[in-house]
Amino acid sequence: MKVDILLGLQWGDEGKGKIVDVLTPQYNVVARFQGGPNAGHTLEFEGKKYVLRSVPSGIFQGNNINIIGNGVVLDPALFKVEIEALEASGHSLTKRLLISKKAHLILPTHRFLDSCYESQKGDAKIGTTGKGIGPTYTDKVNRSGLRVGDLLDNFDEKYTEVKARHLQILQQYKYDASALPAVEKEWFDSLTKLKEFEFIDSEHYINTAIKSDKKILAEGAQGTMLDIDFGSYPFVTSSNTISAGACIGLGIAPQKIGEVYGIFKAYCTRVGSGPFPTELFDEDGNSLRDLGFEYGSVTGRPRRCGWIDLVALRYAIMIDGVTQLIMTKSDVLDTFDTIKACVAYDCDGITVKDLPFSLSETLKPMYKEFKGWKTDMTKMQKEEEFPQAFKEYIDFLEEELQVPIKVVSLGPDREQTIIRK
Ligand code: GDP
Ligand code: IMO
Ligand code: MG
Repeated sequence: MKVDILLGLQWGDEGKGKIVDVLTPQYNVVARFQGGPNAGHTLEFEGKKYVLRSVPSGIFQGNNINIIGNGVVLDPALFKVEIEALEASGHSLTKRLLISKKAHLILPTHRFLDSCYESQKGDAKIGTTGKGIGPTYTDKVNRSGLRVGDLLDNFDEKYTEVKARHLQILQQYKYDASALPAVEKEWFDSLTKLKEFEFIDSEHYINTAIKSDKKILAEGAQGTMLDIDFGSYPFVTSSNTISAGACIGLGIAPQKIGEVYGIFKAYCTRVGSGPFPTELFDEDGNSLRDLGFEYGSVTGRPRRCGWIDLVALRYAIMIDGVTQLIMTKSDVLDTFDTIKACVAYDCDGITVKDLPFSLSETLKPMYKEFKGWKTDMTKMQKEEEFPQAFKEYIDFLEEELQVPIKVVSLGPDREQTIIRK
């Protein structure tokens, strides 16, 4: 059986967690392939809300296996907090969550380095989540990182070496690392929790599962526009968030990939700095933020909001090879009189339909306007109930994007999901 991938097509927070949970009953294995606790994946069902950071979103339905893949960076201290919160709500995962030995460890000093590098950037701050993601991937590529598997053998010696190198850098920038001993203690204490889980060679596990016809869903974090290669560089995260990232982050050969589910909001948001051509600074932007509760699930930061950007979406669909689209949060637009979609950019008088190298401020979005459907869609159960104006909006998007929209999400709850025929 081939591996399906679900990933974000915008700047993250498209609703990946909710939809992975909805799709989970169709799968035997759900595996995260990149990112780390910079992710915040929210799920709501039976009146309860959960935010997952490193744990895959396939843990709540059925008895399937969840895997933290080799492409993920893992912070044992944050992992412990996440696991304990899940245990407190009655979800014990020790038998169902497996961790790749090749996943890299976020060390206490990686968090310090993240904050140190950000403070050096002045006005060009990326606005990272401060979780040490960039420095951990930097060490991975620099061939000096530590992996989960290293915890099993002579870890302290390896740790001391890496820490000394990090402290040298911090000293060079005169960064105050006096809090390190306390952070380090918490980190080392948390290893006991991490070691309750089985560390595996996840590439073998997954390829054996593929051979024995198990259904596997690869869950992405962040979004295509935050990809280290194809996103709005340098205002991106440090991993490959695109579909190819699933091959690398789980050890799956490209021909083993099946469906690629691309998920997008009916509008657009972004947290942190960087270009955002359709960003709104007016009442519409404020309404999107208020009605969509657009505040970061990890940092609580207000998300920047704007209209849907079809130039960026077409690009993401191309890079990811998306075979099915999933649209979330269209309910947030239920009360709008007019809805806009950016179909091209005006670049100094030239109409640009393909995403350019630089998303500079001189790009002006060119919009197509739609009459709002002005209907509360949050309780709808089937697509036949969709108002005409909404149907027209979906038809337009499918025509522009050339990929069918198979799922429409009309609210945060698991039940508020319509699978289209
Ligand atoms: P993720 O990082 O892609 O998993 O997305 P987040 O969980 O960070 O952000 C999505 C937010 O929108 C969460 O608060 C979800 O509960 C919520 N959400 C997901 N789908 C919908 C939807 O269709 N409508 C509304 N109103 N909220 C949604
Ligand atoms: P999910 O999986 C939205 C953004 C940060 C920052 C940039 C780099 O919930 O969609 P990092 O800490 O990764 O070095 O920050 O990327 N960012 C996200 N934005 N959703 C996320 O994850 C994000 N993870 C990182 O805000 O701009
Ligand atoms: Mg999120």
